[in-house]
Amino acid sequence: MFHAVRREHFVPERAWCIPDTVGGVPFAMDREADPERWLEAVYSDSAIITQVDDGDGDPTGGTGRPSSSLSAPAVAVEFLELLAPEPGERVLEIGTGTGWTAGALAHRTGAGTVTSIEVDSVVAAQAAANLTAAGFVPEVDVRLVVGDGAAGDAEHAPYDRVHVACGVTAVPHAWIEQTRPGGVIVLPWMPEHGDGRQVRLVVQADGQTAHGRFGGLASYMMLRGQRTRMPDLEPDDSDRWVGRSRTRTDPRALVWDGSGQDLMVTAVMPDVIIGKRLDMRDGTFRLELATVDGTSQAVVESRWGGASARVLQLGDRSLWDEAEAARARWLDAGRPDVACYGITVDAGGQRLWLDEP
Ligand SMILES: C[S@@+](CC[C@H](N)C(=O)[O-])C[C@H]1O[C@@H](n2cnc3c(N)ncnc32)[C@H](O)[C@@H]1O
Repeated sequence: MFHAVRREHFVPERAWCIPDTVGGVPFAMDREADPERWLEAVYSDSAIITQVDDGDGDPTGGTGRPSSSLSAPAVAVEFLELLAPEPGERVLEIGTGTGWTAGALAHRTGAGTVTSIEVDSVVAAQAAANLTAAGFVPEVDVRLVVGDGAAGDAEHAPYDRVHVACGVTAVPHAWIEQTRPGGVIVLPWMPEHGDGRQVRLVVQADGQTAHGRFGGLASYMMLRGQRTRMPDLEPDDSDRWVGRSRTRTDPRALVWDGSGQDLMVTAVMPDVIIGKRLDMRDGTFRLELATVDGTSQAVVESRWGGASARVLQLGDRSLWDEAEAARARWLDAGRPDVACYGITVDAGGQRLWLDEP
C-alpha cells in the first residue's frame, strides 16, 4: 500500500511536520527551499499539518489550531488494520483530508468501492487533485463528497466498513444505520475527559445497534460540530458559588489514577470537561469541572500537604459530588482497566459499559 499510494502526492509544497516520535521537534517543510528535508519528512513517521484554523491561518507557522492533516503513517495504518476491509467491500470514510487514506482504501477494496466525505471544500478539491496525481480517477476510483460526515451517506448505504479519520466524542447513529449488520466502524473516540482511544464497533443483527471495545491511544483533530472547549469559569470570589464545602478526597486522585478511572468518570458524566492546574510556586493543585454548556461548574483546590481541599460548586448539578461518586464506583468495581470497558451506540445515543454490553 505504501508503494502503491505514495505519500509525496498528498503533501503540499509547504506544510508543518510533527514527528510522531518521542522528543521529535516540529518544523516547517518547504519543498522549494529544502527538497531533501521535505522528502525525508514525507516518508518519516510524522503527521503533516496542511491546514490550521479551518483555512484562516498559515499552517507553516506552527501556530493556530490544526484543522486538516495527513495522518502519521503508523497511526493511520493501525486504524486501517483495525478496519481490515476485504477486496470488493464498500467503504465510507469520514474526513478525506489529503485523500491519502481514501486512496489506500481504494487500493485495497477496488475501484468505485470507496466514498469519502470532507467538510471543507478547499481541502476536498486538493484531495481530488492529490488522488489524480497519485494515479486515481476521482469519481471513478474514489467518490469524493463535500459535506458534514456526521450525517454519513444514506443515499449509497449500506456500507461494509466505515473509516472515521477525525475525532468523535458522540458517535452519530447515522453511521450505524448506514452499515450492514456485521459491518465494522473504526474511529478515534475523544471523550471530554481523559485520553482519546481507538474504537472498533461491530453493527449487530438489528442494524441499529453497535458494540465495541477500546483499543490503543488515539488523538485526532475533532469532527467539526463536536469541537468543545472549557467554558469560562466563574471567578473564585463570585457569589454565584452557592455550594462551598471541603472534601477529604484528594482532587489529584481524580485525574492521576489512570485511564480506567477516566472511562468511569466519562461514563457517569460524559458532558463534563475537566481541567487541572498545578501551581509550581506553592504546589497548590486546582481541578476545574464544567458542563460543556457551562451551566454547572466546580472548582476543587488543595494546598500542598493540606488534609482537605476547598470545593466550590454552582449550577443545577454538583459536579464535584458526581465526580467523587464516579471515583467511588470505580474503586468499588475493583479499579477496572481500559480493557474491561466497552461502548454501545444505538438510536438512544451511546453508553459505556463494564465487561459485557
Ligand atoms: C486528520 S484529517 C484526515 C486525514 C486523512 N484521512 C488523510 O489521509 O489525509 C481530518 C479531516 O476531517 C475533516 N473533517 C472534520 N470534520 C468533518 C466533518 N464533520 N465531516 C467531514 N469531514 C470532516 C477535516 O476537515 C480534516 O480534513
